[in-house]
Amino acid sequence: MTTLVLGGTGFIGKRAIPRLVQRGEKVVVMDINPGAADFSEFGDQVEVMRGDIMQFQDVVTAILHAKPDRIMNLAYLLGSGDDTPHFTMKLNILGMDNSFEAARICGVNRVTYASSIAVSGPQSNFGDVAIDEDAPMHGSNQYAMHKRFNEFQAQQFNHVYGMSITGIRPANVTGPDKVRGSTDHVQVVTLPASGQVANFPKAGLMRCPVHVDDIAEAFVRVTMVDKSSYPIYNSGGYPISLGDLASIVKKYLPEAEINFASPDGKDESGNYLVNNDRLLGEFELEYPPIEQRVLQIINDVRRDEGLPLVG
Ligand SMILES: NC(=O)c1ccc[n+]([C@@H]2O[C@H](COP(=O)([O-])OP(=O)(O)OC[C@H]3O[C@@H](n4cnc5c(N)ncnc54)[C@H](O)[C@@H]3O)[C@@H](O)[C@H]2O)c1
Repeated sequence: MTTLVLGGTGFIGKRAIPRLVQRGEKVVVMDINPGAADFSEFGDQVEVMRGDIMQFQDVVTAILHAKPDRIMNLAYLLGSGDDTPHFTMKLNILGMDNSFEAARICGVNRVTYASSIAVSGPQSNFGDVAIDEDAPMHGSNQYAMHKRFNEFQAQQFNHVYGMSITGIRPANVTGPDKVRGSTDHVQVVTLPASGQVANFPKAGLMRCPVHVDDIAEAFVRVTMVDKSSYPIYNSGGYPISLGDLASIVKKYLPEAEINFASPDGKDESGNYLVNNDRLLGEFELEYPPIEQRVLQIINDVRRDEGLPLVG
């Protein structure tokens, strides 16, 4: 069977593709930046082509070429995109819609795509409650609004055409090479890991990190089924403040210099209490303890920098 991964050379895609290969999938990747990942170790099983998801013709060409059984769409503009509203809309909304419509006209029923925890907005809307996928959405910046519209549009395609389109709402994805999107919860780990001083404004800011390996695995499991029980799944993760994350780092790197200007931040945090029973239950996923993932990131960074491993 064949999976077409749109936006597959990015942070999550380059971890999802080896997992698809392990399951025996032939993988075709279409990305505007095809050289950003190296899949040569997989030989003919992974083929990378350049294409722009904003161009309907490119998506159709990729589908006609790959003849996929399923499509995973990870192409997006990470970060707020607030300063380029027209371009961002074309990539995030038109691009996503192109993937749904091109799949439909080419007869590919199964599509998975990334939404985001950002759709929920500030945690203050929900009190100290872990919210599930049916909670009202309060995310109101451009990225959040685009994800909300993507979810609406996916349900529309499912409803009108009987397609099987499923979204995952990743929380704050973390890993040694994360450079786009939310990064404070990453840098609390990666800067000290490479011996750098790390300064942040607020120790109390809450985040919900989830390791990129776990998200990649989630995408693959959800993509490999022909139909999921629900149209959308929260990834959830580990609710933790930046200050507490720093304390975990210091367990492994006691000399680490991680400074916070103030203990505040909790009240202004985005959604961090997330009920992910749906995803973990239906797809039998289990996340290892956060300490283990923090140590993994520290040592990934240190290996890259030629520093001695810790822990
Ligand atoms: N990383 C996170 O913390 C996080 C959290 C929530 C949701 N998500 C979502 O997960 C998905 C993947 O995120 P990621 O972290 O891998 O991001 P990423 O930026 O590393 O990957 C996105 C990929 O899309 C490609 N792309 C950009 N414009 C394109 C275009 N016009 N045509 C084709 N490809 C294009 C990029 O080259 C890149 O390889 C995105 O939808 C993102 O919004 C990520």
